Amino acid sequence: MKPVNVGLLGLGTVGGGTISVLNRNAEEITGRAGRAIQVTHASARDLNKQREFSTAGITLCQDPFEVVNNPDIDIVAELIGGIEPARELVLKAIANDKHVVTANKALIALHGNEIFRAAQNQGVMVAFEAAVAGGIPIIKAIREGLSANRIEQVAGIINGTSNFILTEMRERGLQFDAVLDEAKELGYAEADPSFDIEGTDAAHKLTILAAIAFGIPLQYDKVHTEGITDITPADVDYAGELGYRIKHLGIARRTDHGIETRVHPTLVPRKRLMANVEGVMNAVLVKGDAVGPTIYYGAGAGAEPTASAVVADLVDVTRALTSDPENRVPHLAFQPDALNDGGV
Ligand code: HSE
Repeated sequence: MKPVNVGLLGLGTVGGGTISVLNRNAEEITGRAGRAIQVTHASARDLNKQREFSTAGITLCQDPFEVVNNPDIDIVAELIGGIEPARELVLKAIANDKHVVTANKALIALHGNEIFRAAQNQGVMVAFEAAVAGGIPIIKAIREGLSANRIEQVAGIINGTSNFILTEMRERGLQFDAVLDEAKELGYAEADPSFDIEGTDAAHKLTILAAIAFGIPLQYDKVHTEGITDITPADVDYAGELGYRIKHLGIARRTDHGIETRVHPTLVPRKRLMANVEGVMNAVLVKGDAVGPTIYYGAGAGAEPTASAVVADLVDVTRALTSDPENRVPHLAFQPDALNDGGV
């Protein structure tokens, strides 16, 4: 069968990881997708930059609109992040009948309702596994794996940078700023790291998790958001003396008044699994009425863990291309227009 052509927007950390994983595991990926997945075009701001991965066989351009307007491309992978021009590019790709895979949590949390509505009208798929918890397949776990359940609660560590900072503060007694610099160097932090430390990134991800888990529209403005900027090494030490660890958690749960969504630092008893999630790792607990509590753990940021989720979405979309458009997986799992439920 003819290969599926992918156009990548962005050749940064995640774009590079995606190309490396697609090349290295081409045989397995082709087997699972039912046909080859090839990156034919990619856009990048700096075409002459030295890169650690091979772009052989890929047509490079500076203008991302060249990629979304290219009639030979089947799937656009949006890996540039931020709101604009990502939003315009994704909507243009959809209007051009292309399926979209994105790792962009801010875009999905803030403009997902508009994007999914456009995709539904056009009959194309938008997949976003990499937007939440890096390499952990948490969207698929909730949407497909737990589809029998009424979900009661989703709670977890969903910002790797904050968890890395809190871990390093505890283990090495370092000040906040020194650790943040290290997280930036390791490629974990957002382009604007205030998104990590002020809880914004976790709030974006929780917005998406709540929509998938509870079938509600994306409602970022309803999330109570606190970051870790006020936490000092002394707080971390005191917590330890009392038998706790400070973790930055995102929590979405059913209450009698609707769905409550909040992100903030939390004291977690040291013996709990969640308290022992260290460094850039993420962990998400999902409680369903049938299955009870389940927990998912893995790298929440970084090139190849995030690429693992991007490529899994490329495989899902490729497989679904042969299915009836009405019954495709990935399906949406919530109604973008049903703004009658949810929030605090
Ligand atoms: N800055 C994000 C984090 C990257 O630290 O979790 C992955 O979404």
